[in-house]
Amino acid sequence: MDRRKRIALVTGATRGLGLAIVEELAGLNHHVLLTGRDVEKGCAEAGTFQRKGFDVRFLELDVCDERSAENLALVIRDQYGALDVIVNNAAVCLEEWSSSALTDCLEVNLFGAVRTVSCLGQLLGEDACILNVSSGDGESVWFSTAVRERFERVQSTNALLDMLRELAEKADALRPQEVVHGEQPTYKVSKFALNCYTRLLHNDLNESGIRVLSVCPGDVRTRMNPSASRSPSDAAKAVAELVVGGPSTYQSGGFFRDREIISW
Ligand SMILES: NC(=O)c1ccc[n+]([C@@H]2O[C@H](COP(=O)([O-])OP(=O)(O)OC[C@H]3O[C@@H](n4cnc5c(N)ncnc54)[C@H](OP(=O)(O)O)[C@@H]3O)[C@@H](O)[C@H]2O)c1
Repeated sequence: MDRRKRIALVTGATRGLGLAIVEELAGLNHHVLLTGRDVEKGCAEAGTFQRKGFDVRFLELDVCDERSAENLALVIRDQYGALDVIVNNAAVCLEEWSSSALTDCLEVNLFGAVRTVSCLGQLLGEDACILNVSSGDGESVWFSTAVRERFERVQSTNALLDMLRELAEKADALRPQEVVHGEQPTYKVSKFALNCYTRLLHNDLNESGIRVLSVCPGDVRTRMNPSASRSPSDAAKAVAELVVGGPSTYQSGGFFRDREIISW
């Protein structure tokens, strides 16, 4: 590996947008750790990139499995010593509203990102970047003022996680409209929570020089959204630009879509 290259890790990267982000970052001179839980597919995709001359390696990571994240941290520390970029991309979109669906969706979309950062964050240097792949479905406009204000009052990641565990426990007894408007309420809660995490982590890391951003990739044609018109590679260009664009253009604590800051 070329030691001058920045090292970027992408979660949930064995297909869809994550795979396209890997290609984009590798094309922008990063050594990219393509991670995911499908080992066979991940190795095959990394092999294809290597044959094209890209500096990409597959490493296993199930973001729901603490031990998987801890093992990955050990491998990266031993073999690289540091990490420059984490792209929290892994997600599921569950249609149903129920306690178990909300628990499962939060487990990947929020707790997975928190777990990844808590295990790997110690490897990040001072000009590193954590990019949370969120969604327009996570914008606060979908939520009532009361719910929004409850989330906004939260001062720490632990308090946020506790509040969401409590909400998931109560979800069977709630109508989704009591929490969030429109379709895919479970997914919306998970992405709104991810955006809250971005802001809390930004506050925690503000002095460290590590940037923390949320990005909405738009509607992208993947297994999650097969009828969308935007290609993964087009969306990945706008996502990767936030990583390479630097802090004066893409400030920490911001939520971006197509290179523009958008409101939470
Ligand atoms: N597509 C859109 O229109 C759209 C719009 C807004 C935001 N987004 C966001 O963009 C990101 C990428 O989504 P996509 O459209 O590419 O969806 P996708 O095709 O469904 O891909 C999701 C990825 O997440 C992985 N994943 C799920 N659970 C995981 C776990 N426990 N550990 C590790 N990886 C896991 C999947 O791996 P497996 O193959 O192992 O399941 C897959 O690689 C997501 O954060 C999504 O919310 C997408």
